[in-house]
Amino acid sequence: MLKVLVISDEAEKRSPLFESSKFGFYTQDSKQEGNLYDIALLDLDIEGWQGRLLELRGRMPVVAFSKPDIKIAVDAMKLGACDFLEKPLTVAALDHAISKHRKKILTHKHGFDEIIGTSPAMQEVFSLIKKAAVSESNVLITGESGVGKEPVARAIHRWSPRKEKSFMTINCSAIPDTLLESELFGFEKGAFTGANYTKRGILELADGGTVFFDEIGDVSPLFQTKVLRVIQEGEIMRIGGMRYIKVDVRFIAATNRDLNVACLRGTFRLDLFYRLNVINIHLLPLRERIEDIPLLVRHFIKKHAPKRKDILIKGISDDAINILMNYPYPGNVRELENIVERAVSLANSPEILPSDLPAFMLEQLPQKGITTQKFRDAIRAFEKEIILSALSDSGRNISKAASALGIHRQQLQRKIKDLKIAT
Ligand SMILES: Nc1ncnc2c1ncn2[C@@H]1O[C@H](COP(=O)(O)OP(=O)(O)O)[C@@H](O)[C@H]1O
Ligand SMILES: [Mg+2]
Repeated sequence: MLKVLVISDEAEKRSPLFESSKFGFYTQDSKQEGNLYDIALLDLDIEGWQGRLLELRGRMPVVAFSKPDIKIAVDAMKLGACDFLEKPLTVAALDHAISKHRKKILTHKHGFDEIIGTSPAMQEVFSLIKKAAVSESNVLITGESGVGKEPVARAIHRWSPRKEKSFMTINCSAIPDTLLESELFGFEKGAFTGANYTKRGILELADGGTVFFDEIGDVSPLFQTKVLRVIQEGEIMRIGGMRYIKVDVRFIAATNRDLNVACLRGTFRLDLFYRLNVINIHLLPLRERIEDIPLLVRHFIKKHAPKRKDILIKGISDDAINILMNYPYPGNVRELENIVERAVSLANSPEILPSDLPAFMLEQLPQKGITTQKFRDAIRAFEKEIILSALSDSGRNISKAASALGIHRQQLQRKIKDLKIAT
């Protein structure tokens, strides 16, 4: 059953209307987990509806309703409402509007925020994101490079009660240890030569929000100790500082390394690993969820198409999609995006063709062609053999041969013609 979030002062008064419908209606204070609705009904007669609309529209289709007022209806549609209904609402109008947007609701389910994925593995990731968002536990996101660890971290923050506060990323592999410390903790004026002002670090700036340690597996043991301390004590000291400052941050970390192995080797602190790995979200490499490729490709075509001023690239041929689905993507989604971006800039027709793909991908094609051809040939040869044998057993009686083979007479006749078998 579709879950409909109703945002209205009058929701209580309207409940008979909502009960009489075939959808599940929830008011905001029904204390459902915040993110689990399929569509929203937003009353434009409430204060601050614009804010609510902006907040909801990226997550689900929003049907607006109000007293008849063309101007408000137009404003709501401009701000991203997908439909507008006039008060008083009727069961028929509600059913109609919600059913009309059913398709949109389903496509929303093909992704989550900006993250595309229909594979069972990604659906599982989406539900973990929702669970992680409403909990305060630290999260460790694992997976090969380019699988989309950062968008997952952002989605957790955006769906969490901390969403109004900042989300700060520290790229641990890009910054040397000493800089990492001053970035993270800040420093007091005079702490070292050149520190001629006081600087607040990321942990202080993110107070109330989320800090994302990207590539946490790459940091030194000394730095690990410092991070562990912050997580355990919830306080920091600026470099050169004299006192601890309380900070309230939620930690999300990501790594493409296997931290279990790193812990065994002694290069990663086991206690830090436990502190971070309260919730683990693992992202599969793209080659293990190839059903996500067509949607990702379409998503990236749409994203990069505006760069072409001469032609509008609208889609991609089946052949080209096939090639894209048969490549192992060592660089995962990042690599796929690069390939699509390049194809969008090269294409000479509104449709991306195999010739717009990198040469190394095409080289695999003839081989694949040969193997499929061989496979088909083998099947045809096999079919021909058993049909010939059934025909000879039945004394060339087609009906008898068909029943011996367990297929219909017409089916056998079609096969005989198709395989050019002499009768
Ligand atoms: N499922 C996805 N849907 C849409 N974009 C994605 C998806 N996964 C990855 N991307 C994009 O691919 C690129 C690489 O992802 P990123 O998070 O940087 O990889 P990593 O896992 O190495 O941190 C980013 O631009 C990201 O937005
Ligand atoms: Mg990354």
